[in-house]
Amino acid sequence: MLKLNTKLIATASAAAAIAVLTVGCMQNSAEPKGTNTVNGKPTIDGGVIYPVENDKTGPYYVNPQVALDAKKIYNGRVPTANELKAWDKDVMPDGTGLPEGSGSVEEGEEIYEAKCVMCHGDFGSGGGGYPALSKGNGYELQKTLTNNRWHDPEADGPTRVFGSYWPQISTMFWYIKDGMPHPKSKTLSDDETYALTAYMLNINEIEYEGEEIDDEFVLNREKMLKIKMPNENGFIPNIDGPNALDDVRTFYANPTNFGAIKVKASERCMKDCQEKSVVVTRIQGAGISNFLPPMSDVRDLPKEDNKAEVKVDVKEVYNNACAMCHSSYLAPGSDEWKPFLAEGMETVYKKAIDGTEGGMPAKGGADLSDANFKLVVDYIVHGK
Ligand code: HEC
Ligand code: HEC
Repeated sequence: MLKLNTKLIATASAAAAIAVLTVGCMQNSAEPKGTNTVNGKPTIDGGVIYPVENDKTGPYYVNPQVALDAKKIYNGRVPTANELKAWDKDVMPDGTGLPEGSGSVEEGEEIYEAKCVMCHGDFGSGGGGYPALSKGNGYELQKTLTNNRWHDPEADGPTRVFGSYWPQISTMFWYIKDGMPHPKSKTLSDDETYALTAYMLNINEIEYEGEEIDDEFVLNREKMLKIKMPNENGFIPNIDGPNALDDVRTFYANPTNFGAIKVKASERCMKDCQEKSVVVTRIQGAGISNFLPPMSDVRDLPKEDNKAEVKVDVKEVYNNACAMCHSSYLAPGSDEWKPFLAEGMETVYKKAIDGTEGGMPAKGGADLSDANFKLVVDYIVHGK
């Protein structure tokens, strides 16, 4: 559910509504077990299907209580006004949904160091498989968005981070408030969220009224509504405004708008090469059929058996997947493991596999079979 939640936040509200429907249909007993399905078809989320098994989707732990609540709310009845209000937390670019409050860059940095740095790295630089929140000056990086490797495979590709890519600052506020910190989402106050949003602006070198946002800057509702992100007008089709849905439909009705270009005879081409019109097949319901090129609609995670054969280099896994959190506290072989080990090794394995409320992500976020993951746990608790 954690995974589903954050996806929800990342997408436009129309897509969010679809995801809500998905939740509603998950427990329909007529559907095949182990997969999110709508009308018998697996649901698609960014092209990937997250199978739900034992209350887990993919490598992410599903909080069973949240799943239960979702079932209660959406199982076969219309949600009440208050239930809808609890879901409908989005903050819009025009300020709809944005609470009063304030927070400074300095305060934001402090909260970041305490609650975010272990996953998102120093100054949002990323690392360990978690997204980078900054790569430097947002205005400069925005220019890289038109880079493409079509003509020159060696060229730099686009750099997409908050500063360069996100069209609206309101999304950042909403995303943090609703989805972060990842293991304990919805725990930040409005002021803390303002502070963290201010810090995000600062590390992305975004300007307020022509001046770069510095450590002293205090963000509040009024100022937030004045901030324009570098890539505000960089999206086609235009998904804002009263005619947004129609604009989007018109855009996608014309295949030449999204890549169906005619390739010149002089360019490398195998055969036909889009001289003919492209067959566009809509995504029907939640399943995909007759896609060009053909696309599998079954993309389960690799089977345990396939992965178990290869033994991992435990130190390498530790360095790549665990060290960012376990190098100072609960380091390999440290005495701090004693109270954990007192609960018995099976409990330690199980908690580390499932993840804990205390901040241990399921399997530390590593994509390993249980057998291989246990080897890494052995290493981390004993230091050898
Ligand atoms: C346990 C690891 C973890 C912690 C701690 C954490 N995050 Fe995240 N964060 C993630 C993951 C994983 C994603 C990607 C979620 C997804 O795409 O489904 C993410 C995504 C984000 C994004 C969106 C990035 C993008 O460009 O798509 C922002 C912004 C963010 N986190 C901010 C924060 C802030 C602020 C905090 C601290 C209050 C925080 N995170 C704490 C794991 C974490
Ligand atoms: C995002 C930070 C983070 C990452 C990454 C991480 N851990 Fe943890 N881990 C923690 C925290 C925090 C705790 C303490 C959790 C608690 O007390 O509930 C913990 C606890 C554990 C425990 C004890 C579980 C228990 O309660 O008995 C084990 C074992 C463990 N981690 C192994 C690993 C391994 C192996 C990796 C790498 C594959 C890893 N961790 C990656 C943060 C992390």
